[in-house]
Amino acid sequence: MIEYKKEGLLLKATDINLKYDTRQILRDVNFEIFDIHRPGVIQGQVVSLIGRSGIGKTQLFRILAGLIKPTSGTVTIGLEQKPVQAGEVGVVPQNYILFNHRTIYSNLRIGLNNCGKPVSDKQAKDIIDDYAKKFDLTDHLKKFPAQLSGGQRQRVSIIQQVLTGNKFILLDEPFSGLDPLMKDKVDELLIQIANLDEQSTLIIVSHDIINTLALSDTAFILAPQRGKEGATITEVIDLMELGFAWNPNIKADHAFHDLVHDIKGKL
Ligand SMILES: Nc1ncnc2c1ncn2[C@@H]1O[C@H](COP(=O)(O)OP(=O)(O)OP(=O)(O)O)[C@@H](O)[C@H]1O
Ligand SMILES: [Mg+2]
Repeated sequence: MIEYKKEGLLLKATDINLKYDTRQILRDVNFEIFDIHRPGVIQGQVVSLIGRSGIGKTQLFRILAGLIKPTSGTVTIGLEQKPVQAGEVGVVPQNYILFNHRTIYSNLRIGLNNCGKPVSDKQAKDIIDDYAKKFDLTDHLKKFPAQLSGGQRQRVSIIQQVLTGNKFILLDEPFSGLDPLMKDKVDELLIQIANLDEQSTLIIVSHDIINTLALSDTAFILAPQRGKEGATITEVIDLMELGFAWNPNIKADHAFHDLVHDIKGKL
C-alpha cells in the first residue's frame, strides 16, 4: 500500500442546488477535496466527477469554475476557503476552444499573459519551449489550431490552462473523441500536470469511467436518487484507500475492472 496523508481542505462544495425554471438539475451537492501528501514525492490531486450523459456534470463544472451561480449553495477554494471567482480556476471546456487565427505559440502565450504577473518575451519563449518539448508540441508551435489533430489541440488547450498558473484545473470530458492511444497520452499529460505542484488539483468531469478512474485519487458519483428530482453525489470512491491510485498499470487490474463494472450499474 502506498503511504499518504490527507491534509488541508482545498475545495468545498456546500449544498449546491441548481434549477432551470422549475426543473431541478442538481440537488444538495456536497463534497470536499483535500491536499494529499505522499512522503518523498510532489503529489497533486486528481479528482473525478462521474455521471451519465445529461445528468448535470457540465452544469456542476460551470458552478465549480465560478462561471455560473447555483440557485443556492457555495463553492470555496484554496487553503483560505474563499468563494470561487471566475478566472481563478483553469478551465478546459468540453468543446475546448483555441484562438484559431493565432499560432499555437501565441495561444500558449495567452495562457502566460493571464498568469497574473508580467512575463517577458524571453521568459515566455523559454517556458513555452520547455512545455512544448515535454508534451511533443515543438514542431507545431508555428502552426494554427486547424493544422493540428484533435488530440494535439487538446494538449495545447490543457497546457494553456497550466500556464495561467491556476492550481485548480477543471477538465470537462478530456477523453471524448480520442482514440485509445491518444487517451493514454492524455493520461500521461494529466498525471504530469497534476504533479507539477503539491497543490495542483485536477477535477475531471466525465462519463468515461475507466480512463477517468485510472487517473483519480478520489471519485464522486453524480447520479439521480429514487423518488427525488435532480442529481446529487451518491457515492465517494476513495481510490487511495482501495489501493488503486497512482498505479500506471491499473487498467490491467481485475479488481479495478470490477469496480468500474459496479459503478456502471449505479449511474
Ligand atoms: N441553460 C439551460 N437551461 C435549461 N436547461 C439546461 C441548460 N443547460 C443545461 N440544461 C439541462 O441540464 C441538464 C444537464 O446538462 P449537462 O450539460 O450538465 O449534462 P452533462 O452531464 O454534462 O451531459 P454530457 O455527458 O452529455 O456532457 C440537461 O438535461 C440539460 O438539458
Ligand atoms: Mg457535459
